[in-house]
Amino acid sequence: MSKDFQLGAINHVGVAVPSIAKTLAHYKDVFGVEGTPVIELPTQGVKVSFVNLPTGQVELIEPLGESSPIVKFLERNPLGGQHHLCFEVDDIHEARAHMITKGVRVLGEPRIGAHGTLIIFLHPKDMGGTLIELMERADEH
Ligand code: CO
Repeated sequence: MSKDFQLGAINHVGVAVPSIAKTLAHYKDVFGVEGTPVIELPTQGVKVSFVNLPTGQVELIEPLGESSPIVKFLERNPLGGQHHLCFEVDDIHEARAHMITKGVRVLGEPRIGAHGTLIIFLHPKDMGGTLIELMERADEH
């Protein structure tokens, strides 16, 4: 029922960085905020830490291994930078089907993301230059 598709809240903004530890030290100094303990996601080739804020999170992403999908991003942006934007959806499979009917390229099959729920990514060339992550809300299933 793709006509029922409804975009949910912004869950997080993904920021690629060369070093989560250095970024967290800087955020603590400048903003007075802390990040969650770093977790490694070998299947996605990244390490992540979340900075929790009242209206959402900043997801700090550091490459894990040479074949990490964000190695090239950091080559182009050596200081790091905004990498993706994540919106919540009720049902990832419905959302995926909806995107396909709209002609938006979906990058791969739904898979488990850093929050333990299903995610997909939408091709930035179909989304005005921004890589978009859609994430199934944790409380839905
Ligand atoms: Co993300």
